[in-house]
Amino acid sequence: MVNVAILGFGVVGSGVAEVLTQNKSIIEKKLDKEINIKYILDLREFPGNPFESLVIHDFNIILNDPEVSVVAEMMGGSHPAYDFSKACLEAGKSVVTSNKEVVANFGAELLEIAKAHGVAYLFEASVGGGIPIIRPMCNDLASNNITEISGILNGTTNYILTKMTTEGAAFADVLKDAQDKGYAERNPAADVEGLDAARKIVILAALAFGKSISPNDIYVEGITNIATSDVEMANGFGYAIKLIGHAKMVDGKILAMVSPRLVPHSNPLSGINGVFNGILLGADMVGEVMFYGPGAGKLPTASAVCADIVDAIAHADGSIKLPEFKIADASDIADVESYSCKRFFVFDKCPECALDSKIAEKCFGPISNFAIYGDKVALITEEMSEKNAAALCAKLNGCKAYRLL
Ligand code: HSE
Repeated sequence: MVNVAILGFGVVGSGVAEVLTQNKSIIEKKLDKEINIKYILDLREFPGNPFESLVIHDFNIILNDPEVSVVAEMMGGSHPAYDFSKACLEAGKSVVTSNKEVVANFGAELLEIAKAHGVAYLFEASVGGGIPIIRPMCNDLASNNITEISGILNGTTNYILTKMTTEGAAFADVLKDAQDKGYAERNPAADVEGLDAARKIVILAALAFGKSISPNDIYVEGITNIATSDVEMANGFGYAIKLIGHAKMVDGKILAMVSPRLVPHSNPLSGINGVFNGILLGADMVGEVMFYGPGAGKLPTASAVCADIVDAIAHADGSIKLPEFKIADASDIADVESYSCKRFFVFDKCPECALDSKIAEKCFGPISNFAIYGDKVALITEEMSEKNAAALCAKLNGCKAYRLL
């Protein structure tokens, strides 16, 4: 029998208990071993909950129990989640997690500790909720150089953008709805301001390029400045506005960023709606592959955590191959100023330099799309650097610039 402890009995933690109970026979058949949830660590009591009797409040009971060999950390936040994970790995217990904050900030260190102690540190659920993405990147794409990653990596913001687009719903109402459904972070600013997606893109970039960048070292822009009229104008030009995490190698350095982008309707990411996530990977041998599925939510995320529990148990002999990445230094990170792409400019009030497309071309260079909507003007330029786009926005009042994918 294998004893498992769950750290954190919130949305995902309770989902893990549910999956391990509901699909116990399927899971045990795969492993040819019985799995027992021995402890659930949480600060709260859960009177009347079927798992009530397993709830404890002292982490040391788990740490010091030699019968517990796998610990599933779903506490959220960096501390004490990182400290508990580290202590468990050092005590020879495998750790699986959905905690992207810990993986993005401490993943390289925790992987080293796991390797040194012959145990597993697995984090399939940290990106893309229930979508298999980490294991396919490490295993199924092992013979490829991954060259580029573009993904819708946050379910909450995709849910909000979809409702704004299809129902004209108000931002605050949709956010409340996403929170009620258990998609949003405890502090939803992490979702709507792009930090959650930033944690996820740096995890994917670390797996693809072998270097782990801090989410604090990349350009991050959320969805709070997107107006419904921007979405409508982009749609008129044949694009959906999506919050995109993007990473690629530029001259041997990693360029990673999160921002709202116009995605052409011909790109499969443009049709990903609601809480669903999608990740497009470019790789030198396979070409382009897409991963799609539920990016947040109790049971989808728990499904990925439980897959890691199964993997950790199946490789309890230390034979598991863990991802390899090192902490990046400043010289590994590309300067975002050098990034160039097509731009979508929108103006609340038509400026002198955009009275018509001919006049606008003098200021913006060649323009592929131009439209006037009441007082507003929208146009799409050829590729333009971050620096030039920012300079134009600073010069022209009421101007917003979006990147195109
Ligand atoms: N708040 C996250 C999201 C949860 O909305 O995608 C899944 O990581």
